[in-house]
Amino acid sequence: MKNIFTNKRIFDASTAASGGFVWNINRDKVVTVLSPATVANMVCGFDVLGFAVEAPYDIMRIQFSNQPGITIINEDDFQLPVEPEKNVAGAALLALLAEVPIPDIGLEIRIRKQIKPGSGVGSSAASAAGAVVAANYLLNEPFSKSDLVRFAMNGEKLASGVKHADNIAPCIYGGVTLIRSIFPLDIVSIPAPELYVTIVHPQIEVRTSDARSILKQNVLLKDAIKQWGNIAGLVAGLLQSDYALIGRSLEDVLIEPVRSILIPGFHEVKEKALEVGALGGGISGSGPSIFMLSTRRDIAESVAQEMKAIFARIELAHHTYVTSINPAGIRVIES
Ligand code: HSE
Repeated sequence: MKNIFTNKRIFDASTAASGGFVWNINRDKVVTVLSPATVANMVCGFDVLGFAVEAPYDIMRIQFSNQPGITIINEDDFQLPVEPEKNVAGAALLALLAEVPIPDIGLEIRIRKQIKPGSGVGSSAASAAGAVVAANYLLNEPFSKSDLVRFAMNGEKLASGVKHADNIAPCIYGGVTLIRSIFPLDIVSIPAPELYVTIVHPQIEVRTSDARSILKQNVLLKDAIKQWGNIAGLVAGLLQSDYALIGRSLEDVLIEPVRSILIPGFHEVKEKALEVGALGGGISGSGPSIFMLSTRRDIAESVAQEMKAIFARIELAHHTYVTSINPAGIRVIES
């Protein structure tokens, strides 16, 4: 161990900033995290529900650097910006560093993305949330999960123009999360029964900002009533492990009718998936990925076969994933 920050000035500053946390830093520490994909909205819960999946995921490694500020090294082929203020992981880390009372601190982050940007399974959230969770671990965990969501939302703001937490929160908390409120943050973990998830990612890009800009700003009361009935039904179904209730609550009368026109094969995928036994599903986040939930892995595999057949027929390149809900969220895999 070398360069431990224990001088009086820093200790005093940190005590004021975060209620007595002592900033003892081991500059040799290196942390690697696995940051999973997430499915936002969960059909009816636009901007308020989301869950983490086991695959795909990004891998990120963070360590201290002699260079003050954030140094980003991309270890993938996505050619994302390396300037911290233009990179979602960088924007999240800048927000975190603004609350670290250590002068001239430098962090170097290596990012190996496997979640394609613009896929609709929380690629930007995996980067932003993974970066701040890894940095928090490196700093001996001065920040709460809620703080980390707050920092990571700066990455989402950069990516989509809006601070939404329905990918960030499940990525950090794991499982299914309800974002009851963003200002102030109020995140509730929802216990969920065993569920398998099939995701198809047609190889087209739908930018979240575009998918948000086409939404109507006003809704009819009768549609709102249907929607909040479904959200409540879905949460109750998850809590009670009532698969039939989960299935019939996976209905979206507000967002899906508008956004589904951006996704070739969408309605056929849903129809065929239900035919082979899926509980239900819909657009993953802002698309173009589509997800379906099933009670058993073999059903989820059959759903994947149907998805592949549909996209092969319409000659659209695609990837499918058969996975499950990830109860842990971001995991430290090496430190
Ligand atoms: N709730 C957001 C949206 C998620 O649907 O726009 C984006 O991944």
